[in-house]
Amino acid sequence: MAVSKALMFAPHSAKFLRATLLSVAIAISFSIAPPSFAADAAPDRSAVGTHGMVVSESEQAAAAGLEILKHGGNAVDAAVATALAVGVTNPASCGIGGGGFMLIYIASDRAFYALDYRETAPLKAHPDMFMQNGKPNPELSQNGVLAVAVPGEIAGIDAALRRFGTMKFQQVATPAIKLADVGFAASPHLAGEIAQMAPKLKDDSGLREVFLKPDGSAPKPGDTIVEKNLAATLKGLGDDPVASFYHGSVAASIAAFMSAHGGLIGTIDLANYRPVWRNPIRRHFEGYDVYTMPPPSSGGVVLEMLGVLESGHLAGLGVDSPPYLARLIEVMRQGFIDRAKYADPSFAGADVARMLSDSHILELRERALHKKSPPAPGAPAHDHGTSNLLVADKDGNVVALTTTINTVFGAKLSVPALGLLLNDEMDDFGIAPGVPNAYHLEGELANQIRPGKRPLSSMAPMIVMKKGRPYMATGGSGGPTIISGVLQVALNILDFHLDPASAVAEPRIHDQAVPIVVIFEEAVAPATRTALEAMGYKLKVVPMLGAVNAITLAPGNLRGAFDPRKGGGAVGY
Ligand code: DON
Repeated sequence: MAVSKALMFAPHSAKFLRATLLSVAIAISFSIAPPSFAADAAPDRSAVGTHGMVVSESEQAAAAGLEILKHGGNAVDAAVATALAVGVTNPASCGIGGGGFMLIYIASDRAFYALDYRETAPLKAHPDMFMQNGKPNPELSQNGVLAVAVPGEIAGIDAALRRFGTMKFQQVATPAIKLADVGFAASPHLAGEIAQMAPKLKDDSGLREVFLKPDGSAPKPGDTIVEKNLAATLKGLGDDPVASFYHGSVAASIAAFMSAHGGLIGTIDLANYRPVWRNPIRRHFEGYDVYTMPPPSSGGVVLEMLGVLESGHLAGLGVDSPPYLARLIEVMRQGFIDRAKYADPSFAGADVARMLSDSHILELRERALHKKSPPAPGAPAHDHGTSNLLVADKDGNVVALTTTINTVFGAKLSVPALGLLLNDEMDDFGIAPGVPNAYHLEGELANQIRPGKRPLSSMAPMIVMKKGRPYMATGGSGGPTIISGVLQVALNILDFHLDPASAVAEPRIHDQAVPIVVIFEEAVAPATRTALEAMGYKLKVVPMLGAVNAITLAPGNLRGAFDPRKGGGAVGY
């Protein structure tokens, strides 16, 4: 294990400023400024293993996953344990009040499985629920009781464990329960998120009690945080967590809380919630087979982008070179324009098979080469309460899991007696046509709110095969920068042959078609930025973009790295 506290970086607290409906020039601004992450020694945030590997955005959660692997659990057991633990140790990013996607490779089946446990809109939700006096009110879709969608996390974890795990829920929940009950040292990332959100956390009795000191100040990195009520809730779920969470006492408490505070989620919404096993999607890329989640994930967008870049001889251009970055920008623009058509496949949305077809990819390549972006449609989007984790076990099974409560600390609302922090995933819907969400993604009809519907997500867990064996896995957090981040880390490994630590540390760029501005991390060399500006690109420089982690897998040689932008742990054995 090689995790250095010194390298657990200052908060990944980038925050997009909300654009107004009629803004012509939309500025994207990111607050907080961790310094030059790329300068750090790669080995300290990476790990090697011969049997198994866990990478998480939380050091304690990675250790929880490793503990399960060492006790004979498989990759699914360990992924679930890590997800539950990171929900405790990084509650600003995820937890049992949220939902996610799990991409699973089972070696004995030589098959992929894609589990969608994304939150759903409650039955009483309607397309205009965030409109007030004819205008959308994003405050309502991001904070407070109406922002909450029906949580899918526990249902997803239970489904994965029952289908592929070898352990019972309480066994995999043990490390998380211990961390919540005894307490854990706040990471620099968490301490920073709490400090930034303290004014909002103060307004919720449960969040104030757990995350703020009695005088209302934020804990410092290393201070102990205890989540007794969450520990009791996890324990109380027993070995049939769905019974309690969706049909029993937890469901009753959530529904009572909702009705007392004017929320929409009732016991029927929880009882109706189901995770969905979907067909994973795949596309070849330069001798590799790339697998990811289908919609409502944005995995297909990354596949499209890879398709357009295929055979582009990128390695010859150089990893940070202006011609390479210019090509990336054009390709990202095309991908994000297509993303606007994505939605929950049960309702509407993209024909992903057509979007990944050679003819469509050729069309996009042509447009990207000649910078022929059609005017980008107004479509929906978001950022900050998300966590990615990766697990590989000794039998060759691999899990890439991304889980979210949407923006940092979700709806900034909790059910205090349960220690349950609620998501604000409703903001991932388009709250009105052309209206940007927290991530400057604009509302499209396909992603309009409907009862029971899942909001479109940018999350994109990915596993890449080479000659029939898992070769790498990746995924990230950071709203739409997940898509561009996963793309660049995948290219860094597959095309530029960087090791995981270097691949995730490389400076990144982001372009989402709307607004027309390319976001550059400040670590990109000034000369490179000047060259891009000379090509006509409008640049916005930010301290950093989203966090992406990665593993490469060769028999007996597993290498993993967490992203210094957010901190975390990579552990192997
Ligand atoms: O599913 C989505 O696209 C968003 N809820 C993700 C938000 C996110 O990544 C926040 N970032 N750290």
